[in-house]
Amino acid sequence: MSLKVRVGLGIVALAAMVVGVSLLPGMRAMAAAEKATKVTLKLQLPASDAKVTVDGKEYGNTTEINLETKKDKLTVVATWKPNNYTEIVRKRKVDVKDVIQLDMRTADPKMPDDIQVIYVPTPDDVVEEMCRLAKVTKDDVVYDLGCGDGRMVITAVKKFGAKKGVGVDIDPDRVKDSKENAKKAEVEDKVEFRKGDVLKIDDLPDATVVLLYMGEDINLRLRPILKAKLKPGSRVVSHRFTMGDWEPTRTIVYRGAAPNNYDYTLLLWVIGEEKKKQ
Ligand SMILES: C[S@@+](CC[C@H](N)C(=O)[O-])C[C@H]1O[C@@H](n2cnc3c(N)ncnc32)[C@H](O)[C@@H]1O
Repeated sequence: MSLKVRVGLGIVALAAMVVGVSLLPGMRAMAAAEKATKVTLKLQLPASDAKVTVDGKEYGNTTEINLETKKDKLTVVATWKPNNYTEIVRKRKVDVKDVIQLDMRTADPKMPDDIQVIYVPTPDDVVEEMCRLAKVTKDDVVYDLGCGDGRMVITAVKKFGAKKGVGVDIDPDRVKDSKENAKKAEVEDKVEFRKGDVLKIDDLPDATVVLLYMGEDINLRLRPILKAKLKPGSRVVSHRFTMGDWEPTRTIVYRGAAPNNYDYTLLLWVIGEEKKKQ
């Protein structure tokens, strides 16, 4: 064999070794990834009727799940309804091992719960009473967090002369309704409606009044933002729902319009004027 041919073969052999060596870790990883682990997942659920999914697969209402996975982490989700208008979704990521004990009874601040409330409008006369309780005037910027069809901020602007109204809703259809209603009421230039999750709000830049009809779970999540971001003298009015142990400055029971004449509990907090310790 000539020298040229031998050198050529040597180069080819060397290249094959280099390629082989560099492929080895990847091949090892692939082999490892193909090995499934048998997992027993033992759960403590946040509610006795919570439904569970693992990596998107539904397991219903159960506290023990046996599965096989090739992944090194699982996403476990529990969903439940603490009442007939609220749904809470709690998520955890866990390392895969033979037996996983997972306590989902308390919220993890690093992975906050998703909370959604169904749409139920506040009757118009009750909205007006909320504006009266908040003493809305032309100097106010009024927010409705979970604004539905926009009636709260539209009323605040149109009937109480508020200088600006802002409504936020997670449901794009509600935002669309709100914008259409603002147009009909001819207050488009003074209101702003946007799609958003109120649980992600971390500031309320110019708000002086916040109106709410959301349920206590969401109120409790909003409470630290309201307390920290609203200026003294700002008012928060909640239709029906409390803020846990944050005592309202005032609570009234309003008798609704005929024909139902229902009683509506309305709660007012004036920032800086709380009755009890925070
Ligand atoms: C009970 S309705 C109140 C509507 C309106 N504020 C009223 O009183 O007429 C609650 C509204 O909040 C919206 N919502 C529920 N969860 C939400 C969330 N996490 N972020 C933003 N909006 C939400 C719903 O789509 C619904 O329109």
